[in-house]
This record gives sequence, structure tokens and C-alpha cells, in this order.
Amino acid sequence: MNVRDSEAAAALLSAAGYEQAASEADADLVIVNSCSVRAKAEEKALGKLGLLCASRRDHPGRLVGLMGCMAQRLGEAIFKKIPGLDFSVGTRRAGAIPRLVARVLAGERGLLETSSQDEIPDVPDAHVEDMGFSAFVTILLGCNRRCAYCIVPDVRGREYSRPAREILAEIAALARHGVREVTLLGQSVMNYGRMNPVWDETDPPSPGGYREPFPRLLEAVAAIPGVLRIRFTSGHPSGCTDELVRAMASLPQVCHHLHLPVQSGSDPILKAMRRGYTRERYLEAVGKLRAAMPDFALTTDVIVGFPGETEADFEATRTLMDEAGFDNAFIFKYSPRPGTPAAQMPDDVSDEEKMRRNQVLLADQDRRGSALNEALVGTVQEVLVEGRSLRNAERWAGRSPGNKIVVFDPVEGLEPGTLAKVAITRAAPQTLYGEVVR
Ligand code: 5AD
Ligand code: SF4
Repeated sequence: MNVRDSEAAAALLSAAGYEQAASEADADLVIVNSCSVRAKAEEKALGKLGLLCASRRDHPGRLVGLMGCMAQRLGEAIFKKIPGLDFSVGTRRAGAIPRLVARVLAGERGLLETSSQDEIPDVPDAHVEDMGFSAFVTILLGCNRRCAYCIVPDVRGREYSRPAREILAEIAALARHGVREVTLLGQSVMNYGRMNPVWDETDPPSPGGYREPFPRLLEAVAAIPGVLRIRFTSGHPSGCTDELVRAMASLPQVCHHLHLPVQSGSDPILKAMRRGYTRERYLEAVGKLRAAMPDFALTTDVIVGFPGETEADFEATRTLMDEAGFDNAFIFKYSPRPGTPAAQMPDDVSDEEKMRRNQVLLADQDRRGSALNEALVGTVQEVLVEGRSLRNAERWAGRSPGNKIVVFDPVEGLEPGTLAKVAITRAAPQTLYGEVVR
């Protein structure tokens, strides 16, 4: 989501007449886009801002700004931490960036622009030129859940779904400029259209008979010429409705892949986290997706060391991860966030123990991921061809529907930005290798 917001900021500044610098060292203006989800991410952003302000010694007059979740969370307090900061702009006010830059150029300093929780956000379009083949498109902002550990509802505000028409116009423009794969973004993306209307009476009804707003959006995106692939993230088990599963299984453009954060495999911890499902309900949702899509790929997020997590809770997470059969997993050490319900609970798992649990889950996942990749040897994967491989310029690479990197030798007539069928001959933990078949 931050990548998408950064692109939007760049697009706004280009439209205002600024030019993108060749590198950070050349830039007269640098804006740090920040994340508040864990303390470490905030520390990194602060460190970077400090260095940028200090860099004015060699680069006089350089402008330094902050955007995103940390700007929203800290408000005025950011100027105490980083006195040299020129401006700070919160999550729903990206549209103000060109105006703030103009005011700083006119001599003002320390400008702050944050938003209220329920303000209808600015959602500037991203760049449509030079996007490559794959682009992010924000469809839903904010989050109305209140998972006990999570700062996102505080910093990204109430849930708001963009009107379908606006999203479809943005994707059509991207597709005209060569984008072939879109990833629809939202904190709880399947909630699209549940809190505010997104379709109006003048919109044509869904040809597939979808009544829920999100499957209906998937269908409409799939109908846009040039869109070869659709992904969306992140999911929640409550969103895995029959209509959604039908749309995923039957619309050929929708990748059979879902990022479905589980966070924990232990019921008492899930309850304390206020995740709104049990282990069984989570596995039920996974079962439903796998039944409809035999080639379904599943990825997840897990938090280790949530307050009160015992060895038995941790073991439950390990067994759940095996049962669910994750293709990939992002493991995070719990980090208390100020103002969240979990911050009131004792952070009682030591840092060494969090580290140990993190390592155990990573090692489990390496084994599991390798075995799942091995099982793909002998299959034919449809790959969105990206071009030269980063590691070996002789070979080409692309991604499978399950979002795995596939490396192969280019063949006559094969163009980047098209779909190719690749027979998988070899698997490594993070990569598949194969040959193009016709
Ligand atoms: N501590 C650690 N991890 C967190 N996440 C969200 N909040 C926290 C926190 N306080 C993780 C969750 C989420 C991912 C984006 O970040 O796993 O899915
Ligand atoms: Fe945070 Fe939970 Fe909302 Fe995800 S669903 S953004 S974890 S509050």
C-alpha cells in the first residue's frame, strides 16, 4: 500500500511540474513514506530522516518531507524528533503534497497536514507511464476491525471503498499504458463496498449474477481489455464467501492465490488478538478455496510472541501452518504499538524467545515451501513474462499465478508482458526453473 501511495505522490509532483531525480543523491526534494506497524519500521524512518536533514551540509536547500502512517500518528510531535523536517503529511492528505512543497519553497517550514479518521480520502491516481507490467491499485482504505495489536485503524482511519467507476477508469488507463497485471489493495480487501455504496443504479448489472460488491468488481476488472491478471490483498476468512470463491475459480484473469494472514494457530491467542475467527474457521475457509481451485496457492502473516503466548500456543501455530500448507509466510515478532488494546497487556514473551519462535517458523516454512515447489516439477505453469532474469541476463523470468518466480530460456517470438506456458523442470526453495512450451 505504501508503494502505491509513493507512486501517487510522484504522479502528483510530476503533474505539478517537478522532475524525477536520477537518484536519491541528486534529489532536491526527498519524501520519506513511513510505516507504523512495528516499532522497527518507525525507527528506520526516523534514522533516514535524520540522515537526510544532515545531508543538507552537502546539498544546501534540499527539502525533506514525511508522509504516511507515522506522519499521521505523531502529528506535531514529529517536529520535536526531527527539527529540520520541512513538512509532514498524513495518510488521507497525499493530495496536499504539491501545495506543501510550494509553501516550503516560498519560505515556510514545519508544515503539518493530517486528517480526521472518517474523512473521505484523496486517492490520487498513480503514474500511468513507465509502470512496467504490474501495478497496485488501492480500492479500499482504512480498516474497521480492531485487532488488538494493530495500529492501522488509528493511522489509516475508517474503512472507505472507492467508487467502482473510479477504480475501473484507473485500471483502464493503466492497461492502455501496458500494465497487464493489477493487484487490488485494501487492509481487508474483501470488505470492498460493505461500508459505503460503490456501484450506482446507472452501472450495468453483473453478467455473472454477482450481488456482493467485491466479486462484482473482480468481474468488471476482468472485462477491461489488456488486463491479463488480477490479484488482491489482504484477505480475511470472513470474506471467503461462496460468491467470492466462485468468482476466483471462474474468472480466468484472477490468480488462484490469496494472502490470508492467520497471525496465530491458537484459539485463545486468536481471541485475545480479536481476529474474529477460530483456527477451525480459518482452516474451513482454506478448505473451501482449495476445493474450488486445486492449484490454489496460499500465503500468510504470523505474529510470534503476542502477550500471553505459551509454548503450547506456539506449537498450535506450527501445526496449523502445516495443515494449511502455506506456500510462503511472513513472520513478525510482536511489537507493542502505543494506543492499541494489546499495548495494555504485559509484553511477556522475551525478545530472545520471540527470536527463537521466529527462527523455528522460518525453518519450518523453508522446508514446507521447498516441498511445495518440488511438487510443481512436472507441471505446466502460466507465467507473466517480465523479461531478463535479475540473476542471469541470459535467461528470462516471470511469475506464476501462485506468485512464484519462474526462470526459463527465452524463445523466438516471446514478448515481455505476455503470458507463456512453462513446463517446470527444477525447483529451488524460492524459484522454479523450466522451459517454454507452445
Ligand atoms: N507487531 C508485530 N506484527 C504486527 N503486524 C501488525 N501489527 C503488528 C504488531 N503490533 C503484522 C501482522 C500483519 C502484518 C502486515 O504486520 O502480521 O498482517
Ligand atoms: Fe490491522 Fe486487523 Fe485491520 Fe489488518 S484487519 S489492518 S491486522 S486491524
